[in-house]
Amino acid sequence: MNGSQMADEGRDFDRVAHWEKVYSTKQTTEVSWFEAEPTTSLDLIDRFVPQGGRIIDVGGGASFLVDRLVAKGTWEVTVLDIASSAIEHARKRLAENAGKVHWLCDDITESTRLAKYDIWHDRAVFHFLTNTEDRQAYLSRLNESIVLGGYFFVATFAPDGPEKCSGLPVCRYSVDQIENVLGRGFKLVSNAKFGHMTPT
Ligand SMILES: C[S@@+](CC[C@H](N)C(=O)[O-])C[C@H]1O[C@@H](n2cnc3c(N)ncnc32)[C@H](O)[C@@H]1O
Repeated sequence: MNGSQMADEGRDFDRVAHWEKVYSTKQTTEVSWFEAEPTTSLDLIDRFVPQGGRIIDVGGGASFLVDRLVAKGTWEVTVLDIASSAIEHARKRLAENAGKVHWLCDDITESTRLAKYDIWHDRAVFHFLTNTEDRQAYLSRLNESIVLGGYFFVATFAPDGPEKCSGLPVCRYSVDQIENVLGRGFKLVSNAKFGHMTPT
């Protein structure tokens, strides 16, 4: 699937309601994308930006990435998610450390509150954008917010991965397709394929 062949599905569902329902009816350990430790993300961050800086976890949900980054003490962390219930889970867990994080409850395709970041981290969010307009909105925010020399870490389903996640259709990407979508402003520095074991 390349740019012109990508699914172009309309937004005929309430995206906010979908994700609020997920996080208010399921345990955070039950969701299919749960990982007890965000090892892959932390390894990439340590490898490419060991000194720390400003990072945004786009669609961070209730991931433990924010906990680990705050614990390092060298990161200014922003967590953005469309679901306030997801952000509430993470805030409660972080307790007094929650005040060290910038929390944004926004749809990334519409957010007007982004700053500049050394790393834009996205584990399993971009692939939910199945129409061209949303992808363009996401990419313009990415391009405006990432500093020169910054990093975009993105994890999407691969061409042989599932067609749906959380009951929603996804776009699946090969490495070439991700490069095409990003255009010439980005240079591929690393890629890898990961298997993910869902809690079930
Ligand atoms: C598959 S989950 C991944 C969560 C987290 N990145 C992780 O690895 O645990 C997708 C997340 O993206 C959020 N999300 C989906 N669409 C979004 C959008 N348009 N803007 C912001 N967040 C979105 C959901 O609420 C959910 O938390």
